[in-house]
Amino acid sequence: MSCSTKLLISCLLALSASLALGSKAMAQDRKGLNNVYKKYFTIGVAVTPRELKSEEAGLITKEFGSVTPENAMKMGPIHPQQDRFYWTDADSIVAFAQRNKMKVRGHTLCWHAQTPRWLFVDSAGKDVSKEVLLKRLHDHINEVVTRYKGKIYAWDVVNEAIADDSTYLRRSKWYQICGEDFIAKAFEYAHEADPKAILFYNDYNTEIPAKREKILKLLKSLIAKKVPINGVGLQAHWSVSTPSREELERSIKEFSALGLQVQFTELDISVYAGRQGGQLVQGQQPTGSSAFTPEMEQQQLEKYKMVFDVFRQYRKKITGVTFWNVSDRYTWLNGRGRKNYPLLFDAELQPKKAYWEVVKF
Ligand code: XIL
Repeated sequence: MSCSTKLLISCLLALSASLALGSKAMAQDRKGLNNVYKKYFTIGVAVTPRELKSEEAGLITKEFGSVTPENAMKMGPIHPQQDRFYWTDADSIVAFAQRNKMKVRGHTLCWHAQTPRWLFVDSAGKDVSKEVLLKRLHDHINEVVTRYKGKIYAWDVVNEAIADDSTYLRRSKWYQICGEDFIAKAFEYAHEADPKAILFYNDYNTEIPAKREKILKLLKSLIAKKVPINGVGLQAHWSVSTPSREELERSIKEFSALGLQVQFTELDISVYAGRQGGQLVQGQQPTGSSAFTPEMEQQQLEKYKMVFDVFRQYRKKITGVTFWNVSDRYTWLNGRGRKNYPLLFDAELQPKKAYWEVVKF
């Protein structure tokens, strides 16, 4: 090896070492997402009780100002039998938040999925009446909201009641037994249990015009009936291909025009194109490898940059942005052998390039 080649190699080595040091120093110096966005809105994250006892805990407290239980407060997990609640997981999340002076968004009081087996049927296995189901809804909401009164500042009261097909309301068991009344009732029960909690209707695909129209219709009808609703949660399970800036801006404008708070409640940006995180539909198999390619990295970074640009622009209308999961180490979007990389931190819990785009403004 010639002298000049050796010199070149050692220069390159020194350069890469200083670059590595640079990014490490940056990592140590970084203020955290929630601090960077302090004057804009709270930035939160969906968590599991396990993460709060693991390496992730430090990242969660450093970067975020609010937590949402990913599953622990859903009706199935928290109320497995009619006369038995399972509080351990939900309690541990609320206690973590209190210890670390973080807010908690409660999720969710009334949803068609992850419901307990006993909920819709009597002891003979037959559907209960509307009166019985509303009483069960009341008792559930009253118990859960009262337990965390003053500790949970906002609740997703009703989740995903709008249909994806051409019908208006989703033909869920709630709807089949109660008609649309269960929606207003759920808000009334929650308000009664904690009058200070901020109450949200939460849904996905809110940037698709047809679905947005139906959600607007529902919200307007609740407001007209003086139902105690304060906000709308736009889930934001997006992808490298959706939404467009125009679609996103339109959603923020139209929902906030109702006089409701707008929060993005479940943000992730799938590296696979398509609506709802480009999720595989039934029967669809993943194709190709599951690697995080430079092309995905670039597309995702651009989408994150655009959406946070819009969020900042509309900061007066937006009161919160919550990520759905902490890092690419674990995401609910992994499935059927296909790995996804939808978040701002990689599997080593290090900030990705997209992170630096989000905090650079
Ligand atoms: C998801 C969780 O992330 C998964 O762990 C669980 O298996 C299914 O539910 N919309 C919602 C969330 O409102 O509650 C869902 O969470 C994701 C879609």
